[in-house]
Amino acid sequence: MTLIAADTKGLKLCAALLRQGEAMAMPTETVYGLAADATQGDAIAKIYALKNRPQFNPLICHVPDLESARQLGVFNETAEKLAAQFWPGPLTLVLPRTPDCPVHPLASAGLDTLAIRIPAHRLAQNLLREFGRPVVAPSANPSGRLSPSRAEHVAAMLPDVAVLDGGDCAIGLESSIIGCLPGGPVWLRAGGLSRASIETCLGEKLDEVPETQDAEAKLAPGRLARHYAPKARLRLNAQSGNTDELLIGFGPQAPEACAANLSASGDMNEAAAQLFSTLHAMDALAEAQGKRLAIMAIPEDGLGEAINDRLRRAAKS
Ligand code: TXA
Ligand code: MG
Repeated sequence: MTLIAADTKGLKLCAALLRQGEAMAMPTETVYGLAADATQGDAIAKIYALKNRPQFNPLICHVPDLESARQLGVFNETAEKLAAQFWPGPLTLVLPRTPDCPVHPLASAGLDTLAIRIPAHRLAQNLLREFGRPVVAPSANPSGRLSPSRAEHVAAMLPDVAVLDGGDCAIGLESSIIGCLPGGPVWLRAGGLSRASIETCLGEKLDEVPETQDAEAKLAPGRLARHYAPKARLRLNAQSGNTDELLIGFGPQAPEACAANLSASGDMNEAAAQLFSTLHAMDALAEAQGKRLAIMAIPEDGLGEAINDRLRRAAKS
């Protein structure tokens, strides 16, 4: 396993890897991303291969600032408002590609749109500036598995990939994704920025794309039914754990016998930040003890929408 220290030398090494068309993992405030040069088709192909990702599932392009984002996507009024309020941060905008967009078409997987994000994480910012080109970065996990919120998670799932070590991700859930296309804004993925914050900024409720239409329209192919999954079976809305289960609790009313608690005080942001690391840890423990997993009900408020989205996909058999 190769953990790269987060100093000047480490950043230069990571930028050099990207320039050579190699994949490496970078921390962001949401989750770790498996990064590659977005302008090199071969580098992007490596990402699909490493993740064993269906080719139709497009990638998010990361840039350090709005000026760079404007070279890639066409901003309408919705996109301008959201970018002004929430970038850098846990929000991805899907925009029409600019006519001279330098990002390789493989990143868009055949669509004429591009998903773009400006991450707020200091190391991601520094790496993007050092590298000087857009970087594609899906979450740094094999397709379908849990997303990594810590360098060690990446190292365990993708042992051949170099990881820039940024410790724990502060938000711990992937970015929320909004389509800013001619038909009006659409809600594509619940994530680290709550629906309420986005709807307040836009002054309107957002339409969700039905999942069936989604698959056909290839609008957000990442919304596969089983996704973000631990190896162990996961039971939702548990009130207590059976003898063959490790119970993940939430809130002050969780039983003492819980193996873990996403937030003992019932704080939704803390629960989001703890979600993937808790699932990684409990999955390893469940495997060692030959048990299954169960988790208590999580309220839908704030980031609860995104947490429950991930849990439903994780629990699908
Ligand atoms: O927080 C995040 O978003 C992390 C960090 C590393 O930035 N990245 C991430 O990437 O979660 P990934 O590849 O695991 O999820 C990207 C999602 C997928 O569901 C994909 O289908 C959707 O974005 N997507 C990408 N390009 C799209 C496009 N042009 N139109 C619609 N959906 C798109
Ligand atoms: Mg992912």
